[in-house]
Amino acid sequence: MTVRSIVLGCGSYLPEPAVSNAELATRVDTSDKWIVERTGIKNRHIAPDGVTTSDLALEAARRALASAGLTAADLDLVIVATTTPDETFPSTATRVQARLGMTRGAAFDVQAVCSGFVYGLSVADAFIRTGQARTVLLIGAETMSRILDWSDRTTCVLFGDGAGAMVLGTGEGAGTSDDRGILNTKIFSDGRLHDLLYTDGGVSSTRGAGHLRMQGREVFKHAVTNISAAMEASMAEAGISVADVAWFVPHQANQRILDGTAKKLGIARERVVSTIAEHGNTSAASVPLAFDTAVKDGRIQRGDLLLLEAMGGGFTWGAALLRY
Ligand code: UT7
Repeated sequence: MTVRSIVLGCGSYLPEPAVSNAELATRVDTSDKWIVERTGIKNRHIAPDGVTTSDLALEAARRALASAGLTAADLDLVIVATTTPDETFPSTATRVQARLGMTRGAAFDVQAVCSGFVYGLSVADAFIRTGQARTVLLIGAETMSRILDWSDRTTCVLFGDGAGAMVLGTGEGAGTSDDRGILNTKIFSDGRLHDLLYTDGGVSSTRGAGHLRMQGREVFKHAVTNISAAMEASMAEAGISVADVAWFVPHQANQRILDGTAKKLGIARERVVSTIAEHGNTSAASVPLAFDTAVKDGRIQRGDLLLLEAMGGGFTWGAALLRY
């Protein structure tokens, strides 16, 4: 018998308003044409002043718990993957824990920027497989709009706010790739690439949060290579091929990265869940937002084999293979 982490439910939340490319073009020197052609993004959601990451996380969490048919009392652990916490401390996860009315178990944040949800899956899976938790609420939630330099057109048009959540429970499998649940997770990082994507501030260096800085073209070059390598490592370990995967659920940074990765690995474009047009890059929230979108619209069905992937600042990157 093999312990498996199984997906019991999912949910997501996007704050209003949605902000179009045309609206952004009234604020910075850009155009709908440039943004669509270079990234595939048409809209992104921006949280209004006073709405924080934990607000978005809480709503996504409530929806995920409802879809799982569970309450906060059933949870042993809350993990929030975020780069934009409400406060430097305590963790956003403990705020969500309190607001859910959960009075037991543990809660903490995971920081791996855009790879945060895949890192969080890896952590949640380890807790479940080692018996340290039976039921885990994993949330990816971000208010990226708060760390953008709104005068920098090379970055401010790319990101958005949002949250996605998954409830993971303990299941049993035979130890084969036919099992339901997480089959494996693969996470990687290379801190030498810091300068390509970072914030120019932080609590210990500038006493502030800083703004997101990115050498986009350089990040792009690494993205397809790293993401493809992580996906191949995940599939190889499970002994499965591209043809066995029903849906690819990627981090949404750029439609051209999604297309480039699909082409490199021979994945049919229609098997890739893309939400970039309406969400933009929501960092750690993007994978669970895409996942929930495709579950709710009926594309992802129970029993489907899914390959999730992400890549972000650090650099960090990774993949997770799971049967829904
Ligand atoms: O989620 C974490 C991981 N992040 C990513 O994976 C992002 C990876 N990078 C990218 O997605 C792309 O590199 C970008 C979308 C960021 C940029 O696309 P690009 O095709 O690499 O454009 P570029 O940076 O090479 O810039 C091309 C031109 C430049 O003008 P010149 O120097 O050729 O005259 C830019 O100044 O486009 C200009 N430009 C813009 N023009 C209009 C840059 N941003 C804008 C803009 N509107 N918003």
